[in-house]
Amino acid sequence: MKIGIVGSGYVGLVTGVCFTLKDHEVILVDVVKEKVDAINKGISPIYEPGLDEILKEALERNILRATTSYEEMMKEADVVFIAVPTPSKPDGSMDVRFIEAVAKQIVETLNKMEPRNLVFVMKSTVLPGTTENIFKALILAGIRDEWKGKISFTMNPEFLREGMAVEDFLNPDRVVIGADNDYGREVLVKIYRDFVDNEKILIVPIKVAELIKYASNAFLSMKISFANEIGNLAKSLGIDVYEVMEGVGMDKRIGRAFLNAGLGFGGSCFPKDVSALLNFGRSLGHEMKLLEATLEVNKKQPSKLVDLALKRYRSLEGKEVVVLGLAFKPNTDDVRESRALELIKELLEKGVAKVHAYDPKAIDNAKTVLDDERIIYHNSLESALGSADIVFIATEWQDFADESLYEGKEVFDGRKVIKGEKAKYYEGICW
Ligand SMILES: NC(=O)c1ccc[n+]([C@@H]2O[C@H](COP(=O)([O-])OP(=O)(O)OC[C@H]3O[C@@H](n4cnc5c(N)ncnc54)[C@H](O)[C@@H]3O)[C@@H](O)[C@H]2O)c1
Repeated sequence: MKIGIVGSGYVGLVTGVCFTLKDHEVILVDVVKEKVDAINKGISPIYEPGLDEILKEALERNILRATTSYEEMMKEADVVFIAVPTPSKPDGSMDVRFIEAVAKQIVETLNKMEPRNLVFVMKSTVLPGTTENIFKALILAGIRDEWKGKISFTMNPEFLREGMAVEDFLNPDRVVIGADNDYGREVLVKIYRDFVDNEKILIVPIKVAELIKYASNAFLSMKISFANEIGNLAKSLGIDVYEVMEGVGMDKRIGRAFLNAGLGFGGSCFPKDVSALLNFGRSLGHEMKLLEATLEVNKKQPSKLVDLALKRYRSLEGKEVVVLGLAFKPNTDDVRESRALELIKELLEKGVAKVHAYDPKAIDNAKTVLDDERIIYHNSLESALGSADIVFIATEWQDFADESLYEGKEVFDGRKVIKGEKAKYYEGICW
């Protein structure tokens, strides 16, 4: 099939690149020319394990390219996936600006083309009603009459985890498909049957597909905040919450995943999706207390780690510290809503003179959002660790797990990366 993808970020690029493994022809469109040029040269603008190799192979086979032109992307496409951002507005509600802009560009392009069957797939995370009441409505209102009846609208939320995106895309737990007609639904089922068995494909109304994504992210975020709340209590009792969660997670009804207490959740999805759902619920008269508490617990975790250091040193005024990890989780360069950055901000607020920061992949991205002369970004772990003796671990990169790195150091661990066997002093946030 010929597949167009709108948006070449984490979701769009991974989706497009993975479709080439099943011999589909993929054209990605993006508004950022540098991204398009990089992709066409075989350089992935994002870091995801395994992505570069598949991208290069697809380019060599001539079955993938990127462009800034919607016309080029749509002129032969059978299916067009939409994977543009759906960020939060300052009040936490969902910003549909990008979806509206895409709809506008699609209308302009369709009106220059001859009508034929075309399926649009909303892959961006959007609140119930968005695909039909905004995206579909805008397109149907703008296109020539001959197109009507030829276009299918579908919704297919994405559940990949950054850092594991390729693996998750190729082996999903489930594929959720919402569609407004049989043709659109069948096209999507055909595409995904190459990746999963029938029983993993869930066919639902479009609105249900939209809400499944939010409910899933809200539940996972809630599990993390729950583990943190119990973790904060455990710490005050001298109990290691990881031992507790091992026992809790052995219950099949609960499961062990997402019960790792620590600095909390970040990234481009959980914080914004929980906020958007909370806001959406309120707008319909629902209080959504669990969601409110999930965000509140999460917000406070970085200060819990700083408080442990304050307890030990009384003041952090004028001290130099090392912060290991900037990405919101390991194996990604994504720093959006990273708890590590919140930790650094908090340390600076408490008067820390210099933060020596290191991350294996995320330094460039961190620099764009956290530019402060008191932060020194180091190119190597050794150089960062050699600069100060108080160390905060903020992201669970495997590179940080070697106990011998911390000889003579005072370590405040926000992710249970080490046991602190060789450290001069060791304190875990919830253990
Ligand atoms: N990142 C994840 O792990 C993840 C997982 C599941 C779902 N999602 C959802 O998928 C959507 C995309 O997320 P992402 O992380 O891939 O975002 P991203 O910011 O990494 O990528 C979005 C891309 O869209 C491009 N873009 C913006 N406006 C455009 C337009 N009008 N036309 C063409 N391209 C345009 C941007 O330049 C960017 O390259 C969001 O709704 C997000 O919530 C993300």
